[in-house]
Amino acid sequence: MNDTFFNYITEGNTCKGDFIPVGAAMLNGETITNALVKIPLKTMNRHGLIAGATGTGKTKSLQVLAENLSDKGIPVLLMDIKGDLSGLAQPGAGHPKIDERHAKIGIPFEAKGFPVEILTLSEQNGVRLRATVSEFGPVLLSRILDLSEAQSGVVAVIFKYCDDQKLPLLDLKDFKKMLQYATQEGKAEFGDAYGHISTASTGSILRKVVELEQQGADLFFGETSFDVQDLLRIDENGKGYINILRLTDIQDRPKLFSTFMLSLLAEIYSTFPEQGDSDRPELILFIDEAHLIFNEASKALLNQIESIVKLIRSKGVGLYFVTQNPTDVPEAVLSQLGLKIQHALRAFTANDRKAIKLTAQNYPDSDYYNTEEVLTSLGIGEALVSALDEKGRPTPLAATMMRAPMSRMDVLTDTELSSLLSKSKLVKKYNETIDRESAYEMLNDKIDKAEAEEAKEKARKEQEALKKATEKQSTTSSSRRTSTAMNPVIKVLTSATFIRSVFGILTKVMKK
Ligand SMILES: Nc1ncnc2c1ncn2[C@@H]1O[C@H](COP(=O)(O)OP(=O)(O)O)[C@@H](O)[C@H]1O
Ligand SMILES: [Mg+2]
Repeated sequence: MNDTFFNYITEGNTCKGDFIPVGAAMLNGETITNALVKIPLKTMNRHGLIAGATGTGKTKSLQVLAENLSDKGIPVLLMDIKGDLSGLAQPGAGHPKIDERHAKIGIPFEAKGFPVEILTLSEQNGVRLRATVSEFGPVLLSRILDLSEAQSGVVAVIFKYCDDQKLPLLDLKDFKKMLQYATQEGKAEFGDAYGHISTASTGSILRKVVELEQQGADLFFGETSFDVQDLLRIDENGKGYINILRLTDIQDRPKLFSTFMLSLLAEIYSTFPEQGDSDRPELILFIDEAHLIFNEASKALLNQIESIVKLIRSKGVGLYFVTQNPTDVPEAVLSQLGLKIQHALRAFTANDRKAIKLTAQNYPDSDYYNTEEVLTSLGIGEALVSALDEKGRPTPLAATMMRAPMSRMDVLTDTELSSLLSKSKLVKKYNETIDRESAYEMLNDKIDKAEAEEAKEKARKEQEALKKATEKQSTTSSSRRTSTAMNPVIKVLTSATFIRSVFGILTKVMKK
């Protein structure tokens, strides 16, 4: 029986190209040494799920995947919601239990650390991730602000105006200034060229911008904007960088995270080249504790994730969700996940049992396992694994004794963390706050000048009137700007440069 099982697992896990061995298959609770369960690099862009109850080993499985990817020169981005992943930078301490685990699996244990870069969206330590409002674009901005169609139209017109006038929109301060300008000082100018903008719409947009700011998004918008190419770094030993985005302070600010993710996915999609039939991924993204994000995520983010999951695959980018229950992930996303690492589920309540039944149905049938039973009896650091082989077919379902991480299964000390940050080239590149001349300053300048000009003009007119009165002459000519035949807003929306520069590729992504 064990021999046929061994052959079944081994044949099903044969790889022509490179792969990550994650552990050995188990049968009736016993680990079958050398019956290795492998994840082919070739299908790692087909996304995945790591699920299971708290404390069953999800984060360690993530760690194992991340460090092995790095080892093979593939960079990784980790969303570290609980702050428990920094240990990747240091070798693991080892333990007799780990040696025992590895002896059973048939993979020798090796302790090592990996190149790590710490990133942040807020004022915590780490490389600051930012984007300018211009780069974010009117489409995403309207989505994240949850604007109506009419309001989105106003946003589009404002971007167009800034484009035409060469007014950089860097931060939310710039954008707020523009909203104000469009209905106050610049009212006539806007009305002539782009159509009338109502104070009611700018007012409601403004309120939503303030709401976004209150969730810390003002920290995200601005310069220096982050270049996603910097996520793809390889160190001098050929190891992929593990970029850890620390999100411990993000839970009460879901909009900030949604804003960042929308921007990241859109930028990856629009800048990464098509990979064709590649035998390895370019970048792998992991979201730990993804349920916290899905629970609070804006609709805009969920829609974007659904549509982009399909599209970024061809760019060689894989997205991995780590969460307690597979049902935490939206159905449309779940159906697209190639790799599944399912740790134990607990059957305390009737609802739990229902969830287990549902989960079991998502796995391929197996002659060797009763999936429902295995799901509740897996030990810590054991999981049901089903991957896609190099031809894209599901590999045999295997209860797997997962290998232990090579790096530390704990966080860095404060000293280790500061030493890591002090050596970071990216911290130097990105952490200076610059507030260069942008729409806010330029408009203030323009308004000041206009006011001065107006005062001068008024004085000149008074003089003239005086002169005319004495000369008893009158003139009545005053030239008005001729209005264009086409409705100006429509003109803006159909202008080719506008569509290219502002909606561009993003519209395509959003509409899928
Ligand atoms: N693959 C593994 N090898 C060795 N120990 C593990 C493994 N997976 C889990 N463990 C043990 O279980 C604990 C909890 O794992 P963790 O991944 O943090 O759980 P989760 O993320 O599911 O809450 C770890 O601290 C570790 O002691
Ligand atoms: Mg965890």
